[in-house]
Amino acid sequence: VGHIDDVQELRKSKLSKIPQRFVRDLAERPSLPAISESCFASGIPVIDLSRIVNGNPDEFYREILMLKTACTDWGFFQVISHGIDISMLESIETAAMDFFNLPLEEKQKYPMAPGTVQGYGQAFVFSEDQKLDWCNMFALGIEPHYMRNPKLWPTKPPKFRETIEIYQTEIRNLCKKLMKYIAISLGLRGEVFEEMFGAAVQAIRMNYYPPCPRPDLVLGLSPHSDGSALTVLQQGKGSSVGLQILNNNKWVSVKPIPNALIVNIGDTIEVLTNGKYKSVEHRAVTHKEKDRLSIVTFYAPSFEVELGPMPQFVDEINPIKYRRYNHGDYSKHYVTNKLQGKKTLEFAK
Ligand code: SIN
Ligand code: FE2
Repeated sequence: VGHIDDVQELRKSKLSKIPQRFVRDLAERPSLPAISESCFASGIPVIDLSRIVNGNPDEFYREILMLKTACTDWGFFQVISHGIDISMLESIETAAMDFFNLPLEEKQKYPMAPGTVQGYGQAFVFSEDQKLDWCNMFALGIEPHYMRNPKLWPTKPPKFRETIEIYQTEIRNLCKKLMKYIAISLGLRGEVFEEMFGAAVQAIRMNYYPPCPRPDLVLGLSPHSDGSALTVLQQGKGSSVGLQILNNNKWVSVKPIPNALIVNIGDTIEVLTNGKYKSVEHRAVTHKEKDRLSIVTFYAPSFEVELGPMPQFVDEINPIKYRRYNHGDYSKHYVTNKLQGKKTLEFAK
C-alpha cells in the first residue's frame, strides 16, 4: 500500500473524485437511505453483564436467556456493565488516535506484509483489481507470545505498547467470562470452551475510517464474518454510526451505546454449535463529515485445536453442517483470502 492507497492521505489531499480502486460495483454500494433511516432504532440486544456476574438467580437466568436469544437471532450484542473502566477505554482510544495521526512515514515503519494481519496497512488485499476499503488498519498478534513480532510494535506514541498490553489483558479476561456464559447459555459446562481452546489466540486490530466525500460509493470495511470464536469491539467516542450487520437479509446499523462494548459470535462458535449460534456477516460504512475509530479484539482457539460440530448440536432435525478441521489451517485460509461475506466458512464444508 503506497501513498495513494492510504485513505488518511487521500483525505488530506482534498481529492475531487474518489479513486476507482475504492468505488464499489453497484451491487456492493451501501444504500444511503438505509443508513440515514433510523433502521437502527431497534438496534441489537443489550446484555448487562453485572446481572450475570453479581445478580440473584432470577436476574442471572433472565440475562443468560437474553444472551441465548442474542446469539441465536443476531450473532451480535452490546455489553454494558462489563467491568472495564471507562478510563481504560479512553486510554486505548487516545493511543489509537495518536498512532493514526502520526506522519505516514512513521506508520509505514510497521508495514503489514501481504497475507498477514499484523502492522499498518490494508489487510486482505491480494490483487490489483480488488476494491479497497475506506479504512486504515493497524493490527497486532497478542497471545500466545509467539504471535508477537517485536518489529511491528510501534515505539511511538510513547505509551502505545504499554496501553495495548494492559487493555488486552482486560479484554482477554472479559472474553473468558463471555465464553463461560455463552457455554452456559447453550446448556454446556461453563469451562468447556476454555478447556477446548487451550492457549487461546488473541489479536487486536484498530480500524480508522476518515470521513469520505462519497460514502454512497465506498465501503469502510468489506462484508465478512469473523474467523474468531468471539470478537469484542470498542468504538471511539463520538464515532458516527458505521457498523452494519446483516439481519434477515437487511443491513442494520448498530447504534453505539456510550461505553458499551459490542460482541459478536465468530465462525468457530458457529461451527462448534453446528449453526445454532450464528457468525453474522457485517461491514462498515463511512460518513461524509465524521470519522470513526473501532478497536477490535479477536479471541480464538489455539492453532493446533481440531474443531467440528459438537455432538450435542447434531441430531435428525439438525444434520451435521461442517466437517472437522484444524483451526490453524482455518486461520491461515482466512487471512490469505479476501473478505467476502461468509465465503471463508465454506472451508469447513
Ligand atoms: C470489524 O468487523 O472488524 C470492524 C467493523 C467496525 O469497524 O465496526
Ligand atoms: Fe469483523
